[in-house]
Amino acid sequence: MNSFMSWIGGKKALREEILARFPLDYTRYIEVFGGGGWVLFHKSPERDFEVYNDFNPNLANLYRCVRDHPDELCDELRYMLNSRLDFDYVREMMHSKTDIPDIKRAAYFYQLIRYSYASGLDSFGGQPHAMWNNFPLIHNACERLQKVVIENKDFGSLSSSMIVLNPSSTVTLRIKTIVAHQ
Ligand SMILES: C[S@@+](CC[C@H](N)C(=O)[O-])C[C@H]1O[C@@H](n2cnc3c(N)ncnc32)[C@H](O)[C@@H]1O
Repeated sequence: MNSFMSWIGGKKALREEILARFPLDYTRYIEVFGGGGWVLFHKSPERDFEVYNDFNPNLANLYRCVRDHPDELCDELRYMLNSRLDFDYVREMMHSKTDIPDIKRAAYFYQLIRYSYASGLDSFGGQPHAMWNNFPLIHNACERLQKVVIENKDFGSLSSSMIVLNPSSTVTLRIKTIVAHQ
């Protein structure tokens, strides 16, 4: 299935190639540099223990809101306009120190992703895009993420706290495009 978002450096085009190189016998999948999660969404969940991690707090918050509050998130997004004025306002809000509740912050961040040039978050893209078309993607992602652990850690601290190797488990760490099998 597809991710609900585009992201700079996303592995949409490479996901099949990456999946084809997965080992056969892993039981844990840890997406260390999560981003748009294209490989996670593409792979079958089977019975794997799956972790999505990204050190960007806005990404981790967005993933948690998609998993846990999809309807409320869509409600926040419902009347967001594809307009330069609104985009600039939301970007300023996200850069300010204003305390924004999690679901609204997730909606703002998603708006910046969807309406920015090349999903770069900074400049208004000015492309035709209907936000409501994303709602089915968000609901599908919600279902897919139900059993996925979402972390917001730097790679270094994630490796010591989450990746506990024991003789009976196999761990697949996806680091950039390299699959390391231990
Ligand atoms: C190229 S994107 C990942 C793309 C993703 N694999 C996909 O298919 O969409 C890289 C991500 O790594 C995250 N990142 C960079 N340095 C990190 C670190 N030290 N620890 C955790 N995440 C990090 C960034 O926030 C960014 O979202």
